[in-house]
Parts: sequence; C-alpha cells; structure tokens
Amino acid sequence: MSAPRILATGRCLPQRVVTNEELSRRVDTSDEWVFSRTGIRSRHFCVEETGLDLAAKAACQAMDRAGVTVADVGVCIVATFTPDHASPSTACLLQRELGLEEDTVCFDVNAACAGFLYGLKTAHALLSDSPRPCALIVGAEVISRVMDMTDRNTCVLFGDGAGAAVVRREESRIWHTVFGTRGDRSSIRVQGPGPAPAAIHMDGKAVFRFAVEVVEKSIRQLLAAEGLSSINDLDLVVCHQANARIIDFVAKRLGAREGLFYKNMDRCGNTSAASIPIALDELAESGQLRPGMRIVTVGFGGGLTWAGALLRW
Ligand code: UT7
Repeated sequence: MSAPRILATGRCLPQRVVTNEELSRRVDTSDEWVFSRTGIRSRHFCVEETGLDLAAKAACQAMDRAGVTVADVGVCIVATFTPDHASPSTACLLQRELGLEEDTVCFDVNAACAGFLYGLKTAHALLSDSPRPCALIVGAEVISRVMDMTDRNTCVLFGDGAGAAVVRREESRIWHTVFGTRGDRSSIRVQGPGPAPAAIHMDGKAVFRFAVEVVEKSIRQLLAAEGLSSINDLDLVVCHQANARIIDFVAKRLGAREGLFYKNMDRCGNTSAASIPIALDELAESGQLRPGMRIVTVGFGGGLTWAGALLRW
C-alpha cells in the first residue's frame, strides 16, 4: 500500500481584496444577503496577476517549505477551469517558470472544484514509475475572468487564488479516495469558446442539493473505508469552500463536533480548484496540522464532479 504524503503547501492570493460592501456598489446585492446565504465577506480578484503568476508563487512557496528542488520533481499538475490559455496548459508554462526538468510530466486537469483531488490522485499514480520522488499539484483559478458582473446569482460567490502542495509517494500510509461524475450541463456551465465572453451560469439551488448529497455520502464512504464509526474520530475535515451553509448542513447531519470542519470562505470566497490547497496551507501555516493527524477532504462542483480523500498528515 502506498499513499501520497503532503510534504508542504503554499498559496498565493491576488493583492486586491473585494468586500461585499464594494460589490454592492456595482451589483444589486448587500453584505447582509451574501454573508447570511454563503458565509462570504470578501474575496480576492486579480488585477495584473495571471493564473500562472499565482500558480508559480504558490508552487515556489510549497517547494521551499518542503525543501525540494527541481531535481526532485517528476510530475507537475495544475488543476484549473480558468487557465490563462486553452493551450499551452498552465502546467507547461509553470515548467518553464520554475525551471522544472524537461522530462517532468506536466499537464492541466479540469475537474472544476474537485480538481485538486483529481490532481493528487493522478500525481500519486504517476509517481509510481517516475524517476524523481516528488510531485507538484497546484489549484489555480482566475474566476473573475469568467464572471458575468450583471448576474448577482454568481458574481458574489467566487474569488481568485492558487494553492499548491508538494507530495511524495510513501509506503504504508493511509489513503482512501472516492470519485464521482454526473454529467450535467445545466447546473453549472462556463460558456465558451464563442463570440460571447465566457461566463459562469449556475443553478445555485440544484448545486446546493447535489453538494450536500455527495459531500455527506463521500465522508461516510471514507469513514467506512477506514473502519471509523464516527466523524469525530477524524482530526479535521477540509471541504471545498463554496458555501458555509453546505458545510454546516453536512456537519450537522453527521453529528460533527464544533470546529471539525474548516472554513475560510469568509475571506477567500469560492476559489474552485484552489480552495482545498489554500485551506490546507492556512491550516499548516497556523500550526493546526500536526504529523499523524487524520484528515478528510472533499471537493465538488462543475461537471458535475466530486472527489474525497482520507489521508494522514
Ligand atoms: O463551487 C461549485 C459549487 N457551488 C456551490 O456549491 C453553490 C451551491 N449553491 C449555493 O451556494 C446557493 O444556492 C447560492 C448561494 C448560490 C444561492 O443561495 P439560495 O439560498 O439558494 O438563494 P436563491 O438562489 O434561492 O435566491 C433567493 C433570493 C432570490 O430572490 P426571490 O426570487 O426569492 O425574490 C434571488 O433573486 O435571493 C435573490 N438573490 C440575491 N439577492 C441579493 C440571488 N442572488 C442575490 C444576491 N444579492 N447576490
């Protein structure tokens, strides 16, 4: 049995902070509506920064903290649905930016808000016959680029940012995963390519119902795989940060103790594939992640896709 061990994480958020208050001057909304329905108070939007800039900063920080060099990295995966270009992939540009070796396996994955965990699973598999021991997985999104600022149903929810993790394949580590796909073009869709500007459309209520269903189901499956009878046997749960109400609903259904589920959407909004690695990095940086901790993480979103993992820190 082998599993990926996260050696270190990094993150980069654009400098510009946009509060609900500021948005309410451009959009027919209010801080009260957005916070009470989502738990979001502010998010970051790129001004000058590209997705590659965010990815490179997060990746460099993770590599520095892990104490790895380009000679250690055999796989580089960027999870994104908002790349700077349809081609080249952000991962290819990151190879050049970081000076990764030319034989590093570099590509993007698009599994929307579940993308980081799809990347982690793929990187772990690819490391089995990689000449180098480590993989870099980055979730990087510039969602402000595909936002319709006249659609108050979606434009108040999302933010930009990147989170990164350096992982190594290790024997005898705990690692259970669940993945799911439910092809559906009506619940969440980003229009394009075409003459009209790309824009996210979302049926919020349908996605909310989907989210609470698959997050609860995934956590139950991961607990069963590990032989645990209660969610409170876990040390931490880190879900995709779409909406505090989704997390609170699932936490209540599962009888979770107060504070078991991490939340940071108040400051970051929904950063899609970047939300889980950004959250992990905040937790690591603030000393809340200790070796041996048993963590569950679950992503869900467009596709529809979902993914969950139970791992040891
Ligand atoms: O990352 C991918 C995964 N995404 C998600 O998981 C998102 C899941 N969905 C959600 O988080 C929630 O459904 C939303 C936050 C998107 C919406 O919350 P809701 O409680 O489902 O609100 P709603 O869409 O039912 O809208 C309720 C009311 C409507 O007015 P009426 O028809 O009741 O008069 C909306 O027009 O709120 C109105 N509304 C707003 N009002 C002020 C919708 N957006 C806004 C807004 N400001 N920004």
